[in-house]
Amino acid sequence: MEIIIQPDATSASQLAARLVAKVIKEKPHAVLGFATGRTPLKLYQNLIILCQEGNLDFSGVTTFTLDEYVGISNDHPASFHAYMWNNLFHHINLPKERINMVNGQAKDIVSYCRQYETAIKTAGGIDLQILGIGRNGHIGFNEPSSSLASRTRIKTLTDDTRLDLAADFGGLENVPNHVITMGLGTIMESKMILLLAFGKNKANAIARAIEGPVTAMVPASILQMHPRAVFILDPEAASELSLASYYKWVYANKPDWQKY
Ligand code: PGA
Repeated sequence: MEIIIQPDATSASQLAARLVAKVIKEKPHAVLGFATGRTPLKLYQNLIILCQEGNLDFSGVTTFTLDEYVGISNDHPASFHAYMWNNLFHHINLPKERINMVNGQAKDIVSYCRQYETAIKTAGGIDLQILGIGRNGHIGFNEPSSSLASRTRIKTLTDDTRLDLAADFGGLENVPNHVITMGLGTIMESKMILLLAFGKNKANAIARAIEGPVTAMVPASILQMHPRAVFILDPEAASELSLASYYKWVYANKPDWQKY
């Protein structure tokens, strides 16, 4: 694991954008997995700037998104469809036909999830998967107790997660109970993982994910088994890491070619 602690969320997001840009420059037909939530918003703003200034070309890129609410239409303002279009896809030169997003309105969810897995494989697998993390350690919507080998499937949200989402839906009572999410096994097959976390309310989940035991109770802890997982954090999210000064020293003393 590579743990990079930046002075604030702004510089962390700029660094994350340089990492994403590097992946696309090295492989113009890269397959990227995108996450939603508040955390990656600044990263997406940086990617938009790079693209609009002519420094990043998405024309060969294929994308997959991590998850979607079941039963929510694509134009619902809280849907992940709306989020991705509003915060990234409308503003970059990514061809529409290469955008793959989970369909929360699929009729036969079991066979739809199988198709989504097949589409990822057919595209050659995900080169870089971007992730946030929930306060309970979830990645995607793989809530605590998710199988560490799980595939794309329907999941039931925990009360904690529904509370965190209440503002997006104008009240807890409107938050769906069910989602479709890539599984932990699906995420682990990505060639590289970039997890972003900012703020004090993520500190405990980050410490348990990076330095605790690998356990289904902290789904992000499975990333300890991934050969190329990069965590980019602000000081608040890193504040419960026992080896924080070591991680800072490691990054500060890397050769330039290893930095993003
Ligand atoms: P957030 O969500 O970026 O809005 O904090 C992250 C997550 O729940 O995965």
